[in-house]
Amino acid sequence: MDSGLSNRMKLSLKDLLPKLSETTPPKLYNPATAIDLSLAQNEVIRGELLEYFKTTIEDNFTQELTLMKTFASPATEGEDIQHRKALASFFNSYFNPIHTVLPEHVVVTAGASDAVESLIHAVCNDGDSVIVPGPYWYGYETLLKSRANVNIIVAHPPTYHNHDNYLLPSLQAAFNFAAERSRIKAVILCNPHNPLAQCYPKRALIECMEFCQEQGLHFICDEIFALTALSGLPTTTTPFISALSLTEPLVPEGAVKIDPSRVHVVWSASKLFGASGLRVVSQDSLQRWDVKFVQPTHGIFLFAKLAQNAKTAEEEKQFFDKLALQGVRVDAGRFYKGVELEYGWARIRFSVSKEVMTSAVTTIGTFLDKNS
Ligand SMILES: Cc1ncc(COP(=O)(O)O)c(C=O)c1O
Repeated sequence: MDSGLSNRMKLSLKDLLPKLSETTPPKLYNPATAIDLSLAQNEVIRGELLEYFKTTIEDNFTQELTLMKTFASPATEGEDIQHRKALASFFNSYFNPIHTVLPEHVVVTAGASDAVESLIHAVCNDGDSVIVPGPYWYGYETLLKSRANVNIIVAHPPTYHNHDNYLLPSLQAAFNFAAERSRIKAVILCNPHNPLAQCYPKRALIECMEFCQEQGLHFICDEIFALTALSGLPTTTTPFISALSLTEPLVPEGAVKIDPSRVHVVWSASKLFGASGLRVVSQDSLQRWDVKFVQPTHGIFLFAKLAQNAKTAEEEKQFFDKLALQGVRVDAGRFYKGVELEYGWARIRFSVSKEVMTSAVTTIGTFLDKNS
């Protein structure tokens, strides 16, 4: 039967559907009882958020004027000016920009996904490519493919542990070996990194921005995990540095000579705030089971090699499917392309209550005892 879909959508679905069905949970997995640590969402502040929204609405939605303003169409393109002023002030306060962010520099979208998709649509033509250093959040595949029909060229760092040291060489290799260099239009960098939960050092960011400038590429910096530094970190931890603090056409000390109109910083409120289960998962347990992990410094998850003996994608799948049936779902590492032939890794979210995390860790521990 004819689906009635456009040719464009049929083509995208052909590419995307097999990938989407790969990420569905195994049969017999019970979402009602299992603990789902696979999604990058933050549960720990839901109580406070609920309270905040309720009181904000109660306190501010009473006057006739506010109501009229709130429900009116925005007077300008790019969303309501008050909203953009508030966001500009937020970026000026927390992202340390070299140049003051003005409301006209801000475009409001429906979350970071919409921002990335709109940007790609704006800077790429159908069939163009974008370089994304691995491992990368696999949501980019849907965002780039489904509407804009843009390909991802993966830049491969050698291992998960030193991805930041190899940023520039991996970008250069991806660019130099690409079949059609002229069709590469941008680099997307995720900083702080999803799934590795660490920040790129300033030197790596500058090199990446210089590379974009040299090759005439747009630099899209997804900073959705900005301001999620975990507490109690050693002073040697690489801090978060926003691309906004480095973007400068005139090159004062420490900045990058780059055309600011080619730098796009993406942020949304989706991920920010607390991460109470971390202590339970990282210190107590993973070390006890001798599980390798990338020390998280930012964000709401950690990346760990739970399936220590997995040698193939299939073995990894079997391991994590079995763990899901035992009641804990994590996000399998093979979906984060970039570091080839390393199997067994998973992104484990800890932004849940300590009680939930303790229960998850107990289940994972019992499972590892039987399956390592
Ligand atoms: C790196 C990254 N960018 C963007 C998004 C999408 O964010 P939003 O929920 O604001 O659309 C996510 C969501 O998981 C993400 O991990």
